[in-house]
Order: sequence, then structure tokens, then C-alpha cells
Amino acid sequence: MTQLACFDDTSAFEGLDRAAFTFSHQLLDHPALNLSNLGRAIPALPKEQVFYSSGALEKTDDFDRAHLDKKNGLSIEETIERIRVSNSYIMVRSPEDDASFKDLYQALIADVTELMRRRGVGDVPLDPMLYLFIASPNSVTPFHVDRYSTFLMQFRGKKTVTIFPMFDERVLPASEMEAFMSHDGRTTYRPESEALATPFDFAPGQAVHIPFMAGHHVKNGSDDVSVSMSIIFNTAQTRAMSKAMMLNHSLRKRGLSPTPVGQSGWRDLGKSLVFRSMSRVRRAIGRSS
Ligand SMILES: [Fe+2]
Repeated sequence: MTQLACFDDTSAFEGLDRAAFTFSHQLLDHPALNLSNLGRAIPALPKEQVFYSSGALEKTDDFDRAHLDKKNGLSIEETIERIRVSNSYIMVRSPEDDASFKDLYQALIADVTELMRRRGVGDVPLDPMLYLFIASPNSVTPFHVDRYSTFLMQFRGKKTVTIFPMFDERVLPASEMEAFMSHDGRTTYRPESEALATPFDFAPGQAVHIPFMAGHHVKNGSDDVSVSMSIIFNTAQTRAMSKAMMLNHSLRKRGLSPTPVGQSGWRDLGKSLVFRSMSRVRRAIGRSS
């Protein structure tokens, strides 16, 4: 077994994409994550990688539109400078494009690769990407699901990440998840499913695993600015599930009622292969017409 560089090793990693769990990380003192480096690096990134909004969001807000619907009226430089008091939320996609994050990114990919191999879900993380989150005290990240597996690491401040069970129709009906996966619909928070979720309180040096497509919302602590970073990725298994969900979506549109994904591994794999060959046929037809 290869040693992990960024994460403290734990048997909890066997739960990758099976259940949410917390663990510890070793990146607390990495210079890329201090506020002065963030204040330099973030404004230098391409604008389309930096999303920021008012931190005064509700669990029910549309997370994908918050940076458009809930602007804070400040520039990104002012937002970072005044983050303690500006009641804002900053999300940065692919900070690894800045040189200060490069070694961190490579080390995290190496750890994720090792954990995937141990679980037998592929040899290499698919589309791995870092995301940075900087938030004023008390800010809320609304309920949402990600089309990825996530390891979220805390660097400053405290937060509570509340994670819902995966593939539970009381949280999200299968048809809604399939439409979301197909970029043909959004997911809706159902307050009555809150009792099914598990809240994880975590502090600097700690991390949490959010399984593929598990709904979650986040509330920052009241004492300090929160700085956290996630690495998101797909595995061979989650990629197969994504394709099976997209196939289900197109079957439902034709009036059929396919078995939801997540109940049978072999059926999901079969569907992913069908979806892949259908996409190839569609591409081939596209080329010849
Ligand atoms: Fe998320």
C-alpha cells in the first residue's frame, strides 16, 4: 500500500462513495491557503473561474445561480479584503492554474489515485479539479448535489456540512437526479428530508468525504472567516453511474420507467455501456450527415 501524503490514513476510506465520513488532512500549513496568497492568486485567475456572491443565502437558494442572483456589489479584490465583514461567499474553480497550488494539486491527485485503487474503482481520477471556498462568518451554501466525488478540507474557521444519503428517493427522486445529471433540470431541497441527513462539524485540519451525488448544504461558523478547499473527481464506477443516469433520463423521456441507478451495480454498468455505444452511434451519424 502506498503511503498517503495529504491525508491521515484511516480505514474510513473504504467508504469512498458508499457513505460520508470525516478524516484529517496534513495541508494546514501549506502557504497557498493563507489569506495573503489567496488575495494575490484569486484576482490573477481568469474571471470565469471566480464566482462570488452575498453570503446571505438560504438552504433553498439556487446554488448554481447565486453569483448572478445575489451579487454583493463589490469587486473580487474588495470582497477578499473585507471578507470578515462583507458577508460574502467566494468560490474559485481550478486554483491549480496558479503556480502556488501546483504541488498541492499533484499531491492530492496521488492520494486520490491510491484510494481509488484500494477500493477497486479505477486506476486514475477522472477530471480531477480543485475548488476553493472562502466565506464570511455565518454564510450558507445552499443544498445541492455535485456530479463528482468530493474530499473537502478545512483550513480556517469552522463549518457544519450536512450530508444526505446517496440515491435515496426521499431526498431526491431518481428522475430529478437523472435530469440534473443530463443538464436538463435542477435539484430541489425538500425540508422534510432533513431528518435523514447527518451533520458533520469540522475545524481546521479536518476533512469530510461527500459521496458522489449525495446532497449536502453547508453553514459556516460564527467566529471566523472560513477557508476550505475540495478536490472533486470521478472514478470508473461513478462515471458508469453518470452514464446510466443519462440513459435513464432519455428512457423516461420516451415514457419508460427504468430502474433507478444505485440499486444494482451490474445493471448500471450495462446501461453505461449502452449509453456509450448510443453516443458513439450519434456521433457517427453526426459525422456522416
Ligand atoms: Fe458541493
